[in-house]
Amino acid sequence: MKQTNVKPADGRLGILVVGNGAVATTFMTGVLMARRGLTKPVGSMTQYDKIRIGKGDDKKYLSYSEVVPLAKLDDIVFGTWDVYPQNSYQAAMYAEVLKEKDINPVKDELEKIVPMKAAFDKNYAKRLDGDNVKQCATRWEMVEELRKDIRDFKEKNGCSRVVVLWAASTEIYVPIYEPVHYTLAALEQAMKDDDREHIAPSMCYAYAALTEGAPFIMGAPNTTVDIPAMWELAEKTKLPIAGKDFKTGQTLVKSGFAPIIGTRCLGLNGWFSTNILGNRDGLVLDEPANFRTKEVSKLSTLETILKPEAQPDLYGHGNDEDTQYYHKVRINYYPPRNDNKEGWDNIDIFGWMGYPMQIKINFLCRDSILAAPLCLDLCLLSDLAARAGRYGTQRFLSFFLKSPQHDYTRGEEPVNHLYQQYTMLKNAIREMGGYEADEEID
Ligand SMILES: NC(=O)c1ccc[n+]([C@@H]2O[C@H](COP(=O)([O-])OP(=O)(O)OC[C@H]3O[C@@H](n4cnc5c(N)ncnc54)[C@H](O)[C@@H]3O)[C@@H](O)[C@H]2O)c1
Repeated sequence: MKQTNVKPADGRLGILVVGNGAVATTFMTGVLMARRGLTKPVGSMTQYDKIRIGKGDDKKYLSYSEVVPLAKLDDIVFGTWDVYPQNSYQAAMYAEVLKEKDINPVKDELEKIVPMKAAFDKNYAKRLDGDNVKQCATRWEMVEELRKDIRDFKEKNGCSRVVVLWAASTEIYVPIYEPVHYTLAALEQAMKDDDREHIAPSMCYAYAALTEGAPFIMGAPNTTVDIPAMWELAEKTKLPIAGKDFKTGQTLVKSGFAPIIGTRCLGLNGWFSTNILGNRDGLVLDEPANFRTKEVSKLSTLETILKPEAQPDLYGHGNDEDTQYYHKVRINYYPPRNDNKEGWDNIDIFGWMGYPMQIKINFLCRDSILAAPLCLDLCLLSDLAARAGRYGTQRFLSFFLKSPQHDYTRGEEPVNHLYQQYTMLKNAIREMGGYEADEEID
């Protein structure tokens, strides 16, 4: 590896996962199994992808760990918080994502991962009623208890670094409220004043992580680190943040497929996406206020790839008040399918002289199987970013996210186009490895 300015990945990396549900336990089990050589971390960019370095005769394809110093799977220590007290073995069995034969070899390790008490407010996820919950008088007290959890975990496990990843339920929709969310001082005051309407529990986790020196990643669509107050905190603490909402099934397909329509200058009249899923995530999303958070996140993908204002002839039609194509997303809770989500997309396109055509996509996916490698990559890459001295919103991680964080106060648009995101990802790795950025696709 070339000499870089990135600090080495020495010592143990603590990964503290908020939520000990389907995604979290599938992620943890897979890492523990992979490092014993009992499975393969399929789908993980950090473990499989290769980046071209140099051009022409000099070109080489290197894996990420040959370009930058990445933490090894062997150095990871897991911890978690959840409103239910079951350890990660019990939770993995309950989730029924993985077969018992794929969990049992690491049963002893999973049993040792016992959730710390959650910072939780039932108003933010009405369908949950676990009792492994902190009793806090104010949001500020929540922050202080979480900070203590992080410090204790780090010390007890001899970690040199910690990353905090939110893989807990989607909270109710919290609209951005300028008087509280725009400055750090106002956010801190609201936490002290126990403003429960504007301070979600997830914000307490993020605040605690950043003040304890840990990067924070938001894997759900919650309003958490996508507010100016948190950007200010990330800048002050010089730590990376990333969010939001893992880009796994239908939206991955959408952000990879929409460029086909856009690059061939075909028209779009409408895109209807619907899903059925039956896991606890689906149960929480069955509550309209929680679904709203997800809907906003899922809808945002298409508009920045197929832009009505840039191509009114192609994307300015449809039924959405005649300003653009019609775009609808539905999620239906359907218990028989558990984690095996099924998504349908019906795409109404048009071609030469306006003649209509249809495309149908039916994705029979497995939600947590798709999310687990993203958890690994997001944790390893935000730890890398911290060691490289990068802080604030990490735009190169947009590749993994449905609704990438961006500075809306300055009119910045997120990049949702999968292949542009891939270029951003590779260029950030190249840059951290001391190589030149490159726009070529391979
Ligand atoms: N799997 C995917 O493809 C995918 C994609 C994008 C986003 N997500 C998001 O990832 C999250 C996790 O999904 P899942 O399928 O594992 O759900 P899950 O319901 O199986 O697990 C979530 C866990 O979080 C816990 N929890 C809720 N609030 C908490 C809090 N304040 N503190 C600590 N724990 C808390 C719940 O008790 C539950 O055990 C969801 O928000 C989901 O929307 C998943």
